[in-house]
Amino acid sequence: MLQDLLNMHVTQQTFGTMPDGTPIDLFALTNQGGLEARVMSYGGTLVSLRTPDRYGAVADVVLGFDSLPPYLAGHPYFGSLIGRYANRIAHGIFELHGATYHLAQNNGPNHLHGGWKGFDKAIWSACPKISSQGAQVEFSHLSRDGEEGYPGNLHVTVIYTLTDRNELRIDYTATTDRPTVVNLTNHTYFNLAGTGAILDHVLLLAADHFLPVDATLIPTGAQRSVQGTPMDFTLPTAIGARIDADDEQLRFAHGGYDHTWVLRKDRAARSLAAEVYEPASGRVLTVLTTQPGIQFYSGNFLDGSIRGKRGEVYAKHHGFCLETQHFPNSLNEPDFPSTVLVPDETYRSITIYRFDIRI
Ligand code: GLA
Repeated sequence: MLQDLLNMHVTQQTFGTMPDGTPIDLFALTNQGGLEARVMSYGGTLVSLRTPDRYGAVADVVLGFDSLPPYLAGHPYFGSLIGRYANRIAHGIFELHGATYHLAQNNGPNHLHGGWKGFDKAIWSACPKISSQGAQVEFSHLSRDGEEGYPGNLHVTVIYTLTDRNELRIDYTATTDRPTVVNLTNHTYFNLAGTGAILDHVLLLAADHFLPVDATLIPTGAQRSVQGTPMDFTLPTAIGARIDADDEQLRFAHGGYDHTWVLRKDRAARSLAAEVYEPASGRVLTVLTTQPGIQFYSGNFLDGSIRGKRGEVYAKHHGFCLETQHFPNSLNEPDFPSTVLVPDETYRSITIYRFDIRI
């Protein structure tokens, strides 16, 4: 097959089984550039992502586990798809079209990442494909009316594509039969060195403002300039350069970054959101998105209690997330971009994680 000549493949194997015997499939996508992404049907999770460094040595640049059981035992969203509502909703309460909805308070007083059983714990239907763009897996999931307290039957499709431009592209779509709220993202923890702390990674964010939060990490509603603060990544800056600064926002986030940055420009076009450079390996990660915000989380809650792939201890700041999304708590903040989805409309967003090497 032509695809084989081009080294563009998708293969399928069983990763493990659920306690009731349901098999969980693992798909490996490869491209011509020597990249390989593995995704599984449990949580639509990105399990591994192998990319070469400047010397051609390949490493896995995302956190996770070597087998299914630790994913089932509970973990802080390594590689997971997140929904219905990524990030926090204050006190788990929102109003929509005159009705008040009460969601799980699964993160202190707040609702986080879709509740106790969010999309990260769903078993997604999966369809592997080769498209003109590259090897793909299309995941789909029906979240039923009332599940985790949200209204409407929500049909969600998430397509992972590994392109020959060394991009992992994620296309999200959703439709509903009743007005509802949607905010979808992927919660991959990256480590471009493949191991150790991420404090030397150099980050640029295409954002002049961020959303300050309260002590429970709910945005205050303001959009604050990053200028003169440790939140300023308008020029490439090491993640660790100011992470220990005496700053209330960093303290609220448990000693680091866990905030939404307000991305510049019209998000209708896919445009630059973030760029991360890891000096030792030369790996560069560029994030492009149609979303208005990006949650940069510096792995502050990792505390060394989790052993991941190859027995590695995941300590504080050993991974970072760049979660493209709408703003947290949007339904309770009239000035934030809307996260409401109504019947006859289709939710669409695109995020691209592109990998390059700097010599
Ligand atoms: C998100 C949150 C963080 C933390 C992680 C999981 O990124 O914003 O506060 O809860 O998920 O540990």
